[in-house]
Amino acid sequence: MKILSIETSCDETAVAVLECEGTEPNASFRILGNALRSQIDIHKEYGGVYPALAKRAHAENLVPLLEKALEDAKLLVAGSTPAPVTLAETLEREPVMHTAFTHFLSRYEKPAVDAVAVTYGPGLEPALWVGVNLARALAHAWGVKLIGVNHMEGHFLAGLGIENEGVIELKEIQTPVLGLLISGGHTELDLMNDWRSYECLGKTRDDAVGEAFDKVARMLELPYPGGPEISKLAEAERAAGTPNDVTLPRPMMNTEGYDFSFSGLKTAVLYALKEFETQTEEVKMKMARAFEDAATDVLWSKTRKALEVTGAKTLVLGGGVSANRHIRKIFAEGIAAEFPEVSLRIPAHALTTDNAVMIGIAGYYRALAKDFKDPATLRANGNLSLA
Ligand code: KG4
Ligand code: ZN
Repeated sequence: MKILSIETSCDETAVAVLECEGTEPNASFRILGNALRSQIDIHKEYGGVYPALAKRAHAENLVPLLEKALEDAKLLVAGSTPAPVTLAETLEREPVMHTAFTHFLSRYEKPAVDAVAVTYGPGLEPALWVGVNLARALAHAWGVKLIGVNHMEGHFLAGLGIENEGVIELKEIQTPVLGLLISGGHTELDLMNDWRSYECLGKTRDDAVGEAFDKVARMLELPYPGGPEISKLAEAERAAGTPNDVTLPRPMMNTEGYDFSFSGLKTAVLYALKEFETQTEEVKMKMARAFEDAATDVLWSKTRKALEVTGAKTLVLGGGVSANRHIRKIFAEGIAAEFPEVSLRIPAHALTTDNAVMIGIAGYYRALAKDFKDPATLRANGNLSLA
């Protein structure tokens, strides 16, 4: 089955085409096309994602990326596809995209695609709508099924895959699967008891861990997004081997349950910084390391407890923050030492941050369960939850 997938929930505009095969627990996904444009440069000066600009950039970039992904997949055939009668209404709120899409339909035949999958939440609602509306228009124009995908399920399931020469395989996955999803917008521990059936064990009560990385980076006068910058400084500090005299709190680390809180940790960095007269490179390195250590400790100890209590057989990490090398290392060491029977899955670097491949993967599992949406009524839902 060929799925065209669309992701516009935050600051990446992405379209992918996957050839999907198999069933759970053994399925494989060949990446035929994968077009992505990041808006990091647009949002850099705001130090975070600016919703109105995100929406506009998605609306400008989506049709060119659609064309690129289909071209890479060698699925574009010159010709034309009649515009559905509902098109003007479906794309009413995105006039630029309406024009581009009408032009697209006038140049190409319906490609050999079986379904369109789109992220419909959670995320920035104005941004989500752009993807949802194009997906609805495509489903109408091509007469194919429409699949609504939860962005978090995308991170969760894509994280389970192992990539080899453009093919992602989800093989011999044993349930229950515990997922730690850590990104700029989310920090949550979810348990997939059986395929497509989730239970949310806990989540952040305030800032997401990626948001804390970004805010601390701003305090340290580092560019956005801050995660990779903090990580680089922290690595350098560890490599230097100097004893670290900055200690930061581990909020909620020993409380009951699986909720997180990162806003206090961020404030603690602010106060710790006041102890130093100037922010030298040395101070930044110390602080980055102390922050990364504290955040990692909290993430690992909650995850560790959840593994113990649930008896999960697989642990998956997902979301932008799972690109963090220190977090990956601590989790790998912790699993090897304490849970050798648990299979740890950490996505390949390119799959950690937002992309459309993960939406196609999650979309396929929805299609296997015949969970399709009506293109006339699918709505974006910024607060969509997994459980
Ligand atoms: O999943 P993602 O691309 O977008 C959201 O859905 O939020 O995650 C982006 C977040 C940003 O906060 C970024 O700073 C963080 O992931 N991030 C990292 C690293 N790379 C990206 N955080 C820590 N260490 C990294 N190496
Ligand atoms: Zn994400």
